[in-house]
Amino acid sequence: PTSSVCVLDAKDAVPTATCPHSLDALPGPTNWPLFGSLIQLLFKGGLKRQHEALVDYHKKFGKIFRLKLGSFESVHIGAPCLLESLYRKEGNYPQRLEIKPWKAYRDLRDEAYGLLILEGKDWQRMRSAFQQKLMKPTEVMKLDGKINEVLADFVKRIGVIRHNGKITDLNHELNKWSFETICFVLYDKRFGLLQEHVNEEATNFIAAIKTMMSTFGTMMVTPVGLHKSLNTKTWQDHTAAWDQIFSTAKVYIDKKLNKQGSEKEEDFLCDIFHHSHLTKKEMYAATTELQIGGVETTANSMLWAIFNLSRNGCAQGKLLKEIQTVVPAGQIPTAEHIKNMPYLKACLKESMRLTPSVPFTSRTLDQDTMLGDYTLPKGTVLVINSQALGSNDEYFNNGKQFRPERWLQEKNSINPFAHVPFGIGKRMCIGRRLAELQLQLALCWLVRDYEIVATDQDPVEAVHFGTLVPSRELPVAFVQR
Ligand code: HEM
Repeated sequence: PTSSVCVLDAKDAVPTATCPHSLDALPGPTNWPLFGSLIQLLFKGGLKRQHEALVDYHKKFGKIFRLKLGSFESVHIGAPCLLESLYRKEGNYPQRLEIKPWKAYRDLRDEAYGLLILEGKDWQRMRSAFQQKLMKPTEVMKLDGKINEVLADFVKRIGVIRHNGKITDLNHELNKWSFETICFVLYDKRFGLLQEHVNEEATNFIAAIKTMMSTFGTMMVTPVGLHKSLNTKTWQDHTAAWDQIFSTAKVYIDKKLNKQGSEKEEDFLCDIFHHSHLTKKEMYAATTELQIGGVETTANSMLWAIFNLSRNGCAQGKLLKEIQTVVPAGQIPTAEHIKNMPYLKACLKESMRLTPSVPFTSRTLDQDTMLGDYTLPKGTVLVINSQALGSNDEYFNNGKQFRPERWLQEKNSINPFAHVPFGIGKRMCIGRRLAELQLQLALCWLVRDYEIVATDQDPVEAVHFGTLVPSRELPVAFVQR
């Protein structure tokens, strides 16, 4: 990436003579005693609308600002120059904000931590065990067969459940698709989620993940120790959900790892287990977290891509043309075909820029760090706002428009640090390549068979439920080509 000088605008500047400035000099919204900006945020629509409030704050306070919510303080960065600076100063073990409720469960049951919550050398050890299989393009390309097997069922199911072209609860259908895919990749097992009658085991597994996800947010903003000692319903539900997730996942991981002679055939989990020094306990935690990291994120990105194509018929037409040119009629699209499909990749990038499914990630500074004109102390929580970057006209001309062409024509003028939907640096999403391949292949299958049409032109807003989801059922229909 090209190096850029970080020039903060007038609104970022602090009218003091000394430079660098301390944390206290950072601009930011109201900081009331006890509450900080909590009440203001609630008035702006609460946690569901936090992503919009944060984009507004970036517009008002500039590239870097400080925010206090109750006792929780964070520094928000939304400029490529600051991200680049952070990236260049990154240590060996970058840290994200702690997910204390998950750690509390693992400690309670004496289970290991996975990539999402590990820190330091243990994180690096687990990361390198999975890195090759998940981040090396030639390794990920080998997964196209499994991805396609699930896609064949998904497209068949779309054909069956379509009524006048519309699909009831497309979001749920896409979550089942991404869940089925990640389970097939990890455990080499089909759960049958895309069949008409889904078995109880699969339904319970999904329900447990939903419960676990919906109960941990509360314990991120209130002390988890208190929930545990009072044995609150939230803590009980959270614990029961994790119990179910671990017990189901262990059955399938054990089945794979206990198989004799499995080294000979290529297998995702066995290969990692046999080539790393991870214990079985670590494999359980790592695999479970990969599964959790890969379901809603991928499903929502697909949902938004479908939405964007429905509103941009011209782009969809160009995409169809590319698919028809590269993938011969009657053939299944493969990872090899995708190599020759720049427009498809551009459509996906543009969709993730305009309507990201993960709007921000975080870092906890492990040393005093200078960013822009400020010296931030060790322990500062940084929020890296990729949505604020993607929606800023300074980095993307006519940023509100869905224009895949920008990634092909203006390739050299787009700062790579302005588009970070999978995070940055050593701790960026490890499932990135797998997710991209899934999404690219899914678009090939769908767009080839169906014209995705908009059924109304009213706005569809994004709401924050862990990931960004559409505020209403998507106004789209699938018309057989
Ligand atoms: C981390 C986004 C798919 C597993 C992350 C992060 C983001 C992200 C923003 C934080 C990165 C950082 O802090 O710099 C997404 C999006 C996806 C997606 C938008 C889909 C379009 C997946 C998939 C998997 C996965 C398919 C599993 C195979 C993980 C894991 C981490 C992570 C384990 C933590 C990595 C670490 O800390 O070492 N993801 N992700 N993600 N993601 Fe994804």
